Amino acid sequence: MLELKKRLSSILESPKHNTEEKLQKVCHLLDQEISYFNWTGFYFKNGDKNELILGPYVGAPTDHTIIPYGKGICGQVAVSNETFIVPDVHQQDNYLSCSIDTKAEIVVPIFKNGENIGQIDIDSHTLDPFTKEDLEMLEWLCHEVSKIL
Ligand code: SME
Repeated sequence: MLELKKRLSSILESPKHNTEEKLQKVCHLLDQEISYFNWTGFYFKNGDKNELILGPYVGAPTDHTIIPYGKGICGQVAVSNETFIVPDVHQQDNYLSCSIDTKAEIVVPIFKNGENIGQIDIDSHTLDPFTKEDLEMLEWLCHEVSKIL
């Protein structure tokens, strides 16, 4: 995990790429390195609207390019300001399906100056795959990402 964090930091610190490119590279690295991360992407608050807009991602294209606050796992995190781990998406009523292969999901909010401005969203094709180390790494990552936003 330390090695992965170093590689994530070096992407975020790279002077050669803009923010969008950096976030895209972060998604690619996570997708490559963690076998059960099967869709990895960012959503951000869409201007002044109470909705999320899809940012850089790696994985199957999704219909959910705009998500109203409160809707789905992502929309709930936009309101709750708390990480949401879903070990089994079929147990969730308020869930927006992206792919029939998705079995689990984790969404971690990103804060800038105390405001919830977006999130990282990861879907897995494995049931209950996310570890404490994943959670810790993703919360660290969101903190690092907020520094470049
Ligand atoms: N499943 C999410 C929607 C986004 S896709 O997973 C990419 C949700 O319920 O908010």
